[in-house]
Amino acid sequence: MRDVSHRFRHDIPVTAHYLWFKGLHIVFVVTWFAGLFYLPRLFIYHTMASDAISRERFELMETRLFVIMTIGAVLASAFGIWMLFRNPGLLQLDWVQLKLVLLASLLVFHWRCFSWMRRLRISAPSTDTRWLRWFNEIPSVLLIAIVLLAVLKPS
Ligand code: HEM
Repeated sequence: MRDVSHRFRHDIPVTAHYLWFKGLHIVFVVTWFAGLFYLPRLFIYHTMASDAISRERFELMETRLFVIMTIGAVLASAFGIWMLFRNPGLLQLDWVQLKLVLLASLLVFHWRCFSWMRRLRISAPSTDTRWLRWFNEIPSVLLIAIVLLAVLKPS
């Protein structure tokens, strides 16, 4: 079997602390993605809702989910940034640089969710959900790309 240990580039000894932080990093990534996956779905249902009571209920559900996913995003990023501080040599690796580019797209997606939330509050939603259905697919593509990059660490 091919030895790929060079892809890890651990300039520091991997301590139990580092592994705990990596574990928590993954836990909060999951929390973040729960929201990124479900919030655009709520936007689709919200757009199709015709009565005021349902729309109000969707607004509340969207706000709560957005808060939870933002906490997930902040904590996943905080643990990730801590690992980069502990092991700055990682920043020289191609897969880490590509991961950071994909993360920038993920943050733009997160921000776009916030804009959609505001838009659905201000204006009467249109019934055309085609764009939202495409928008809903973006986090799946980013999740697959980022997780495979982080785990396979292609050099
Ligand atoms: C600002 C956000 C993020 C930063 C700064 C960051 C940074 C890091 C760092 C430094 C590691 C440790 C790498 C190593 O020790 O080899 C790591 C591991 C990992 N990250 Fe992230 N990450 C972020 C967001 C994400 C996201 C959004 C995902 C998933 C979609 C993700 C998935 C993973 C996985 C699966 C690992 C474990 C890889 C392994 O060691 O096998 N990360 N991350």
